[in-house]
Amino acid sequence: AWAGVPAAPADPIVGLNQTFADDPSTTKVLLGVGAYRDDAGKPYVLPSIREAESRVVNGNPNHEYAAITGDAEFVKLSLEFAYGPDSAPLQEGRVAAAQVLSGTGGLRVCAQLIERLPRLTGSSQKPVCYMPEPTWGNHAKVFQDAGVEVRRYRYLDSNTKTTLDYEGMKEDLLGAEAGSTILLHACAHNPTGVDPSPDQWRDLSAALKKTDLQLFFDCAYQGFASGDAEADAVALRSFVEDGHQILLCQSYAKNFGLYGERVGALSAVCSSTEEKAALESQLKAIIRPMYSSPPIHGARIVKEVLGDATLRAQWTGECKEMANRIQEMRSLLREGLAEAGSTKDWSHITDQIGMFAYTGLSKEQVQKMRDESAVYCTLDGRISVAGLNRDNVAYVAAAIHAVSK
Ligand code: LMR
Repeated sequence: AWAGVPAAPADPIVGLNQTFADDPSTTKVLLGVGAYRDDAGKPYVLPSIREAESRVVNGNPNHEYAAITGDAEFVKLSLEFAYGPDSAPLQEGRVAAAQVLSGTGGLRVCAQLIERLPRLTGSSQKPVCYMPEPTWGNHAKVFQDAGVEVRRYRYLDSNTKTTLDYEGMKEDLLGAEAGSTILLHACAHNPTGVDPSPDQWRDLSAALKKTDLQLFFDCAYQGFASGDAEADAVALRSFVEDGHQILLCQSYAKNFGLYGERVGALSAVCSSTEEKAALESQLKAIIRPMYSSPPIHGARIVKEVLGDATLRAQWTGECKEMANRIQEMRSLLREGLAEAGSTKDWSHITDQIGMFAYTGLSKEQVQKMRDESAVYCTLDGRISVAGLNRDNVAYVAAAIHAVSK
């Protein structure tokens, strides 16, 4: 039955894990998928998360199905975490929301909503989503699989390739087709680590108020970008304060280290409680035939942390420690490049934020670095800084220098 099926290409990010595992090198380094590693290069479970998990397990919870939109208390705490407890739409009960399968799951459900919207509202609008160039490797696929046309807006400066082209971005967004959706990274843009400044966000929010574009924030790094969850939410909160009825996807993979638990939330700011109720019913209609209801364990852990002031304070400190270690690795990598003899300007490595550095290495250089030094990163030159540690950073610096001198 499957005789004519050709092999699909490996995923450009996750597929690297297998290529790396197959490499016999004893000095190999994996800087591919964005997953935090401690200074010994090992996966890390935050002590606050361990504590929350043991509380969950000790509570002997049952394993009943969650509601289609998940755990209501988790959703409430998630929304307060992102929007701030004083947010007007939250206080007024006009944010439609659901617990979803981390960032990707939320994006997929929202993409389906965007695809259905014209049919639901009797409009002839074509579902279109604009995303930054570049963006996370999975974004376009998620939207295309849902039947949404993907277009791009300028993001990275085409000369420097490591800094923001704000004017280009703004021009493209203002020129976007009316009624389209605009995907924005709430903080720590993946893959570049380059964000608009607070002033640029404010300017963009004001400019986009004059359009009828649907803004959609993908928030995968709240707390992880700067080490301060409030600061990392500033952009999306300012858009909401300006009256934008945003869509939002939140992931707890990176900031809570709950990668494989698939914990996330999606939400949509509505204009009334009636609109919220209708939209939530449509979300249910999308989710139920797709995966019925979300998993419960990870959401219970997040609920335990966000709902307990002491544990939450502990988590904040631990999340900051992860962010600090990454910051330190950025500095060590930059120093290592200088020590290896590089005279190039690598300031973007320490200027960029979040889990990734967008090195500016070309596809050919990335491939050469794999072949010669067994240092693995994605072909766009993105390295997961979280994969660096004191033992391998000088080796990686030398490998980067070797292919870029
Ligand atoms: C990444 O970009 O490496 C992460 O967001 C993990 C993933 O699923 O791609």
